[in-house]
Amino acid sequence: MLKMVVLVSGGGTNLQAILDAIEKGEITNAEVAAVISNNAKAYALERAQKAGVPGLCVSPKEYPDRSAFNRALLKTVQSFSPDLVVLAGCMVVIPREMVEAFPNRIINIHPALIPSFCGTGYYGLRVHEQALKRGVKVTGATVHFVDAGTDTGPIILQKAVEVHQDDTPETLQRRVMEEAEWKIMPRAIQLIANGCVKTENGRVIIDETHGI
Ligand code: GAR
Repeated sequence: MLKMVVLVSGGGTNLQAILDAIEKGEITNAEVAAVISNNAKAYALERAQKAGVPGLCVSPKEYPDRSAFNRALLKTVQSFSPDLVVLAGCMVVIPREMVEAFPNRIINIHPALIPSFCGTGYYGLRVHEQALKRGVKVTGATVHFVDAGTDTGPIILQKAVEVHQDDTPETLQRRVMEEAEWKIMPRAIQLIANGCVKTENGRVIIDETHGI
């Protein structure tokens, strides 16, 4: 059984997609051991509570400096001994110590087709604002392993989504979530939980022969 800790910051719709997929049997061999938010008001914490999953807040506001917060976050994650750390709308820059403690065991969902519209400063609605500003006709979402860079780790799954001429950042964000994020995040977890994902030379190879 793959034990997951899910890190969140806001609404938690990706967390919900994971919880629903477990409930429906679309994710097997995996459980959410805890949900950790940097923001005490995150609706994601209510979603965790409703699902009977422990929800905790580790806020930078409670610590004197960033390194004290980073240490506390790592300690809290490690207290659950997870096999996989899932960043589901987590707006915290993951500290180097965390990446080193969980090599190729942290995954993130990014709301664009990496390497477009990613890296420092590209998060949440800003990603969609930039995609619309550039006038791309197709965008999407990416699930990737987290390495020491920002959005630079090996790509596990991607899904493309059409941009409409009358899109606002909000309508585009919603379509990317519905058509891509809420599908590829649970799917990536299902593949990892069932041993179908390996990394070679910085690239992910998915073994489709399992029939998962
Ligand atoms: C999602 O669109 C996710 O891809 C994005 O934040 C949103 C969180 O929504 N993540 C990032 O931008 C990370 N760089 P949610 O809280 O409803 O899952």
